[in-house]
Amino acid sequence: MSTSIPVGLAGLGRFVPERRLTNHDLEKMVDTSDEWIVQRTGIRERRIAGEGQVTSTLAIEAAKSALAEARMAPEDLDLILCATVTGDQPFPATACRVGLDLGAKNAGGFDIAAACSGFVFTSQVAARFIQSGQFRNVLVIGAEILSRILDYKDRNTCVLFGDGAGAALYTSLERAGRGEFLGGSISMEGGSEGILAQPGGGSRYPASNRTVAEGLHYMKMGGTKVFRFAVRVFAELVQKVLDQYGRDQIGLIVPHQVNQRIIEAAMEQVGLPMDLVFSNIDRYGNTSAASVPIALTEARDAGRLQKGKLIVMPAFGAGMAWGHLLLRW
Ligand code: UT7
Repeated sequence: MSTSIPVGLAGLGRFVPERRLTNHDLEKMVDTSDEWIVQRTGIRERRIAGEGQVTSTLAIEAAKSALAEARMAPEDLDLILCATVTGDQPFPATACRVGLDLGAKNAGGFDIAAACSGFVFTSQVAARFIQSGQFRNVLVIGAEILSRILDYKDRNTCVLFGDGAGAALYTSLERAGRGEFLGGSISMEGGSEGILAQPGGGSRYPASNRTVAEGLHYMKMGGTKVFRFAVRVFAELVQKVLDQYGRDQIGLIVPHQVNQRIIEAAMEQVGLPMDLVFSNIDRYGNTSAASVPIALTEARDAGRLQKGKLIVMPAFGAGMAWGHLLLRW
């Protein structure tokens, strides 16, 4: 196909569960302190899904907000892409449940499992479908219930993550009128199963009494290795945009909300001030694929997106996988 239809962002939405888990709550569960968590991560509280909620429940609420902003009906959707590593179940895809419950009768859909890079990668897939002319209106949702795979006896992981969902509705730039898709990147380096993974439940360690007894269905992480990797690739991704467009073009950096210290270290490396970054990690922790669209929606609501300026969204995580999404507001 030789067509290339310019792509824009017509609607954004976010949804987080009501229940807050504060650092003080965690002090009663594991050997940790509010002071340690705030100093090492910047996180003060995170949201935890209620018993009756599954990942599609959060995804649907975020999707409804994005549809309302775009003034579209569910029937207008051609494709629903759900970025998640904590879907309702291993299969079928959570996107199928989202489509059914939304009433998106004309949409196809599938899930993409790229952990914390999920939204950034999936948005690029969505944009390419629209550019090619195959689909007109593509809904991308990043949604996670990480609390269901965390070991609340493991202080190395349980303090870091939270639950939530964010959604972005892409369509032609002509129809959206803003949020022009300029491109991005997708990279990976395999072999990190021992650094950041949920080992159990797949073909390597199928569910058994042994995998349950050994806690293999919980997330496992070697935090320091992830920390160093994240600072390096975050800085490289931002530098790439700086080299191509220049400092004056950058309106806001909305990174994966990983750890305030990682964000500060990367910004220092590229020599950019912290007021160029949007961060809400203090309130939500790391919500993996949901973190960038939740942050983008809040940045928009706070009036932080400047007309005509670039929004740089770097993301990185399990795989290891990393990349960025670049829009002009
Ligand atoms: O999206 C990607 C997902 N991954 C991440 O977000 C993780 C990225 N990594 C990090 O954010 C940081 O590495 C952590 C916040 C996980 C840890 O910070 P750190 O500065 O790298 O600390 P550390 O791992 O070097 O641990 C220092 C100490 C250790 O004690 P010892 O061995 O020095 O006695 C840990 O056992 O802090 C201890 N520690 C804790 N203490 C209190 C680890 N977790 C906790 C905790 N509360 N929650």
